[in-house]
Amino acid sequence: MLTNNLTVNNNTLYIGNVSAVELAKEYGTPLYVMDENLIRENMRAFKKSFDEYYDGNGLVCYASKAFSCLEIYRIAKEEGVGTDVVSGGELYTALKAGFDPKNVVFHGNNKTIEELEYAVSVNVGRIVVDNLTELENLNGIAQKANKIVDIQFRIKPGIDAHTHDFVKTGQIDSKFGFALETGEAFEAVKKSLEYNNINLKGLHCHIGSQIMDTEPFTHAVEVMFTLIEKIKSELNYEIDELNLGGGFGIKYLENDDFIPYNEYIRECSVVVKKIAKEKNLKVPFIMIEPGRSIAAPAGITLYTVGAVKNIPDIRKYVSIDGSMCDNPRYALYQSTYEALCANKAAEEKNDIITLAGRCCESGDLIGKDMPLQTVDAGDIIAVLATGAYNYSMSLNYNRLPRPAVIFVKDGKSRVVIKRETYEDIIRNDV
Ligand code: LLP
Repeated sequence: MLTNNLTVNNNTLYIGNVSAVELAKEYGTPLYVMDENLIRENMRAFKKSFDEYYDGNGLVCYASKAFSCLEIYRIAKEEGVGTDVVSGGELYTALKAGFDPKNVVFHGNNKTIEELEYAVSVNVGRIVVDNLTELENLNGIAQKANKIVDIQFRIKPGIDAHTHDFVKTGQIDSKFGFALETGEAFEAVKKSLEYNNINLKGLHCHIGSQIMDTEPFTHAVEVMFTLIEKIKSELNYEIDELNLGGGFGIKYLENDDFIPYNEYIRECSVVVKKIAKEKNLKVPFIMIEPGRSIAAPAGITLYTVGAVKNIPDIRKYVSIDGSMCDNPRYALYQSTYEALCANKAAEEKNDIITLAGRCCESGDLIGKDMPLQTVDAGDIIAVLATGAYNYSMSLNYNRLPRPAVIFVKDGKSRVVIKRETYEDIIRNDV
C-alpha cells in the first residue's frame, strides 16, 4: 500500500483502522476520507526537521490551497504549524478556525484591494508581495490604517523544477513574482525600502509542485543567496527570512520515488549555513509551505461502481458516481492514481480499466488504463492519495453536489465537511 495507514483485512480496505466499506455505507459515496493521524504526522515530520537540522529556526506553514476547511486549520494550529493562504476566503476560514493571524502568510499574484485591506486589518503575519502595483497599494492601505506591514517578496529564481508545466512556478516565464536575473527583484527591494509603511522581512520562492528531488531546493537556496548578498552589499540591508515555498513530492503510484520529508530541510540547512558563513551573512529564519505532502497521502476517495462498459479490443470503462468535479486532476494534468476495490482489496488486480466520471464530458476521467480488481455495479472503489487538490479544486459542473469529507482517527470517523445537497446547489440562485 502507498501509506501504512491503509491496511487490508478480510478482503476489505481499512483506513486508519476504519473499514472503507462501512464508511461508504454510513456516509454514502462519493466520499472523501482523510486520516487525521497521518495529517498530523506529516506536519510533525516537517516541523521536526527544523528542530533536528536547523536549531528550530524555522516555521512550517501548511499551504492550505491543498485542502482548506475549518478543521484543517484547527489541526495546524494544534500542531504549532502556520499556514499559507492565497485568498480572502482561505484567510477568512483560517481566522474563523481561531488561527493566529501572525502565523498566516498571505500569497497571490493579484490580491484585490479588498483582500489587502482585510489582511492588513487583521494583522496577517506576512504578506508575500508579488508585483509593484501590489507594493504600492499595500503601502497606501497600511498608511491609512496607520500600520507597518511585514512583507516578503515573491522571487522567480529562474529554476526549472522538472515537473508538469502547469505546476512549475520558478522560471522566468511565470505569472508569479519578480524575476531575479533581469534585476527586477533587486529594483523591487530597493523601492520597498523607500516606503514608510512597508517592512521587508524576507524573500520567498516557490519553484513548483510535486518535485521528486532535493536538488532544485538546494539550488534555489544558492540562487536566493545571490540576491540576499547583493541587497546587503549594495543597499546595506539584511534579509531576515528565507521562505522556500512548498512543492515536496509524494508517492501517487506504488513505484514512484519518494524522498522522506526530513531530507529537504536537512539538505537545505547545510547549504544555507555554509553560504551564510562564507559570505558573512545572517543565517536566515527559514519558512516552508508544504501543502500536497501534508494532505494528499492522508486522503482517499470512495466511489460506487455503476455501469461497466467493455468495448472489445478497445477499452473497458468503469463508471463511478463521482467525476472530474470531485477530482479534476486527470483532466487538468493527466495525473496518475492507484485505485483498488475496497470490498475486494485482497484480490489480485487482474483487469485494466479506465475510471470514468459521470459528467457530460468525454474527458471526465479519473484515470486511464489503471490496474484494478474485476469489478461490477455496486462495488466500492478507493482512489488513493487524493487528500490534496481534490476537494479544494472541486466543482459543481453539471450541478453535481460536492461529496462530504470524513476524518478517521483511531478507529472512529466524523464529518468534517457536510455533503452538499440540491438545496446548497441553488443557494445563491435568485
Ligand atoms: N507555496 C506556494 C506559493 C504555492 O504556490 C504552492 C502551490 C505551495 C506553497 C504548495 O505546494 P505543494 O507543497 O502543495 O506542492 N493544483 C495543482 C498544484 C498547484 C500548486 C499551486 N501552488 C495539483 O493538483 O497538482
